Amino acid sequence: MAENNDNNNAQNPDPDVTGQEKDDYDNAGAVTRRRFLTITFAGGAVLGMGALLAPLARYAYPIIKPEVYEKVLVATRIQLAPLNEGVRFDYQEIPAQLIQLEDGEYAAYSLVCTHLGCIVKWEVRNADFHCPCHAGKFNPQGEVISGPPPRPLTKLKTSVEGENIFVEGIEPEEK
Ligand code: FES
Repeated sequence: MAENNDNNNAQNPDPDVTGQEKDDYDNAGAVTRRRFLTITFAGGAVLGMGALLAPLARYAYPIIKPEVYEKVLVATRIQLAPLNEGVRFDYQEIPAQLIQLEDGEYAAYSLVCTHLGCIVKWEVRNADFHCPCHAGKFNPQGEVISGPPPRPLTKLKTSVEGENIFVEGIEPEEK
């Protein structure tokens, strides 16, 4: 009988260890394959959910709005002199484009598509913004002209001082 108890203690040295904990660790205290696979799949599931939710978050909040907007020199008038020419720049890490409208005014937009957040491209030849993901199109005023985007492009505030064109902040959305 005493010999039998010794055998049990050798297989289960700590009588307080539960069945689940025994499944998670082998006798040497190392993580078992089952535990390792559980952790790996759980981590993968969390990352997968993050990848799925990121575009939805961008859809709801297409542009991250910082507390303070910098005033940034983006271009000089001469750079936009040819009709429909544009200047690509990043405004506070957001890809953006400055163009000259037909009436001579300047307009700048975030290039983040308001559908699912792809980066749209200014097409000089067609004078529109084209989204490569689902063929959304925006006119030079930033309004949707075709495709699934639900809202216009986010417009940035521009100002002109002499020959220089600046961007500072975001235009409030028109209701
Ligand atoms: S992300 Fe631009 S049209 Fe879908």
